[in-house]
Amino acid sequence: MARSIHLRGVTRRFPNGPAALDDVSLDIQAGEFLALLGPSGCGKTTLLRLIAGFEAPTDGTLAFDERLVAGPGCFVQPEARQVAIVFQSYALWPHMSVGENVGYPLRVKGLRGAERARKVAEALAAVDLSGFEGRRPADLSGGQRQRVALARCLAMEPGIVLLDEPLANLDMHLRASMEETFRAFHRRTGATMVYVTHDQAEAMAMADRVAVMERGRILQVSAPATLYREPATEAVARFIGHGHVVEADILLSPGQGHARARLLGVEADLRCRPGLRLPAGARGRVCLRAEDLEADAPGGFLARVLSSTFKGAHSRLVVEPLAAPGLRLAVHADAPYAEGESLRVGLKGGWLLPEGGEAATLPVREAALA
Ligand SMILES: Nc1ncnc2c1ncn2[C@@H]1O[C@H](COP(=O)(O)OP(=O)(O)OP(=O)(O)O)[C@@H](O)[C@H]1O
Ligand SMILES: [Mg+2]
Repeated sequence: MARSIHLRGVTRRFPNGPAALDDVSLDIQAGEFLALLGPSGCGKTTLLRLIAGFEAPTDGTLAFDERLVAGPGCFVQPEARQVAIVFQSYALWPHMSVGENVGYPLRVKGLRGAERARKVAEALAAVDLSGFEGRRPADLSGGQRQRVALARCLAMEPGIVLLDEPLANLDMHLRASMEETFRAFHRRTGATMVYVTHDQAEAMAMADRVAVMERGRILQVSAPATLYREPATEAVARFIGHGHVVEADILLSPGQGHARARLLGVEADLRCRPGLRLPAGARGRVCLRAEDLEADAPGGFLARVLSSTFKGAHSRLVVEPLAAPGLRLAVHADAPYAEGESLRVGLKGGWLLPEGGEAATLPVREAALA
């Protein structure tokens, strides 16, 4: 049975360093596929190990459904948590056959003979490895080994599955096909899945929601499309899809999810969070992506082409607005451009960041390099 996971104010400190997890609160629904995304060292593995019971919180509480599993005066041992873990390194027994590896947890549970063999065969069929029972892990490819690890997890019928960068050792092509395997695995088990990765394409392709982490904290937890279109902070805007963040002067106070602003020397309509309070005359910050910009648009801002790369359906330009020296923006154009050429870039939209929206004024910052 899938279970929900609830973290409240969880902090994990190690000696000699900043907190690996710093006051993390997160609710993962039963049956949800959640990705933990963030750069190396941000605390992803620590969070996973905490859920599994290999770490205890220094502060805060962890509960599965309504049951407290870690907190002041309470610690449920890992083996009593009924959580399955899939590692990057597969963790298969080299001296056992594929069938024995998959059947091992069933043997521990006391399942014997024909019933165990049937469950092993079912689990292997689910990951497209029927008939591989007699092989040794050493005789399999990396992708096949990872599928054996998944089959072993499937055979255990766990309510919670934790995955720590399970595709990190596989090549690009295999990773794409394994993404589909993981989604099928999730549909089949209905388990609550927490999937750690530092690859945002992987997280966005598979998960119901993505939690973006930075330095032990969770910056935003949202569905992939929301994370991309409506980042909550500048850090998320820059991290997801390489968004550019530029300063803007608010002309019309935002309301109903729209605002009029002046940025890079031109006026534009921006999207924003409904009800965001940022008065006319205030300064805000805007997340711009390639799809918000239009090459060769009359009335747009003047920019200089720094590079132009042929991408088949379009050319990807990197341009520098004349009004903001040092700023680099990516723009898609129908035709190639020469380096150094000037063009007008139209602003079709942009997302006004909600961060600091309550403040009357924001400090003016240099438009930073993206
Ligand atoms: N047992 C430990 N003792 C001391 N410090 C630790 C320990 N485990 C983790 N840390 C520190 O906690 C921080 C978070 O580590 P963690 O392994 O959770 O990062 P991560 O996000 O999984 O990184 P990566 O993407 O590189 O795997 C790091 O600064 C790490 O050095
Ligand atoms: Mg890690």
